[in-house]
Amino acid sequence: MSRGVVFGAARSRPCTVVVCRGCCCGNPSKHPGTDHQWQVDRLRAAAAESGGRLTLRTTDCLGPCGQANVIVVQPSAEGRRNGGRAVWIGWALDDDCTDDILRWVADGGPGVIDPPPTLELQFIEPPGEARARARGRGRTRR
Ligand code: FES
Repeated sequence: MSRGVVFGAARSRPCTVVVCRGCCCGNPSKHPGTDHQWQVDRLRAAAAESGGRLTLRTTDCLGPCGQANVIVVQPSAEGRRNGGRAVWIGWALDDDCTDDILRWVADGGPGVIDPPPTLELQFIEPPGEARARARGRGRTRR
């Protein structure tokens, strides 16, 4: 079997947006200037209207609380086949960031199309990679 063969549901898996809602992300006392529920509502509505091209999940703390709100954009099956990988976004606190995320995934997301440059400025390292790099064993390329 070649490495590129994908079976079943994974063949057509859509982009998935994972929204952290742990101790810091989504916490109005830590980030009082953000309407956290509005952010999730917008993302949820976009997923519902996407015709299956976007799924949304919320999760407990992902780790980098100092960069809250954290959102992870996982590539679609097509994006993965093109070499796309999950992208971690930090400080996702305003409508502009949510707009950029929605526009990017609507256009295909990681591995399909480059992210908006303003969104790219908010990319953060996944916690495991940051720890590995601190120990001198991490990846050096994105
Ligand atoms: S609560 Fe989101 S990273 Fe900790």
